[in-house]
Amino acid sequence: MNRPIFDEPEKIKALDRGNMLSFCVNSAKLYGEAAQLAKKIQINYPEPDNIIVAGMGGSGIGGDLLKDWARTKTDVPIEVNREYHLPKYAGKKTLVLVSSASGDTEETLSTYLDALRRKCMIYCVSSGGALLENAERLNVPYLRVPGGMPPRASLPYLFVPLLVCLEKLGLAKGAQDELTEALKLLEKVTGDNAPQKSTKDNFSKTLALNIGQKAPVVYGYGFYRSVAMRFKQQFNENSKVPSKWEVFSELNHNEIVGWERAGDLAKCFSAIFIRDADEPMEIHSRIEITKELLEQEGVDIFELQTQGNSPLARMLSTVCIGDFTSVYLALLRGVDPTPVKTINYLKETLKQNGFREKVIGELAKL
Ligand code: F6R
Repeated sequence: MNRPIFDEPEKIKALDRGNMLSFCVNSAKLYGEAAQLAKKIQINYPEPDNIIVAGMGGSGIGGDLLKDWARTKTDVPIEVNREYHLPKYAGKKTLVLVSSASGDTEETLSTYLDALRRKCMIYCVSSGGALLENAERLNVPYLRVPGGMPPRASLPYLFVPLLVCLEKLGLAKGAQDELTEALKLLEKVTGDNAPQKSTKDNFSKTLALNIGQKAPVVYGYGFYRSVAMRFKQQFNENSKVPSKWEVFSELNHNEIVGWERAGDLAKCFSAIFIRDADEPMEIHSRIEITKELLEQEGVDIFELQTQGNSPLARMLSTVCIGDFTSVYLALLRGVDPTPVKTINYLKETLKQNGFREKVIGELAKL
């Protein structure tokens, strides 16, 4: 086989013009900076009945990571809202955490407007845009995070503040300790998957090579639900490839039947199973049986063994491996990981319907 492009620094430089690889390499540093920044957070609300994270795409995934991490730690239900409006139950006792890298995303702005009208407790995390302009004017508490990077690369800045909000409100313990472990592990993982590590010693490069021209399907379980979702988003946006994610054990009740008569279609997919040394026995058995079923249908099977002790360290280190893999896959496919021209086209074209301007107009009246 020819030397893969990601082992050729000059070619990487020429293709990775937006330098997406550097965000992967600097993961530990970015999470560390985000943790420093989040120390500024002052959030003085009474205990909410429920929490809703409002955010889309790269700004919504932090909400899912929060929800999965906190599932066994807090009494307060957490939902991620990707609609234009809040669910009916949202009211004064709801805490809405508004997350938008740009601060200009129409669904998020519309939900923020809804939260203001319903007098919810609100905390915003963003680099600016119409969101922070309004929050500043109305004295809604917010944290301004660095901008100028692709939203999905801002995950550390968008996720850590959510975690800190939860901890500062006394709703979940252990975030700081888990983050400390995560940062240490991220140092190791970024080294192990760095561009200068040769393919044979580099899990992400090997996984990208194995996926090749096929569409990756990512299977997670438990708190790896959001991690699998992040993989899929990164394969879409960085590698420019169709991808999907599913979660155990729900996938055993529908997804597996879909492979039954897939025929040649099965050969178009690579399945990546997120494995954990501590996976519960019942999940372990399901994964083993599912692997066999898919293998029989001709689907390529790969496993990713997670690392770390605490849930947060396991989640963030696995996210990091997914990020690396998606970038290496982009390079193999000959695409620049950074631009998302279809999203930009859609956002530009949507402006013609005037909805976003209407929301901004409504916000200005408050
Ligand atoms: C990620 C990306 C998108 C955005 C989404 C929402 O890099 O480009 O997934 O995150 O369109 O926009 P923001 O994050 O600005 O609210």
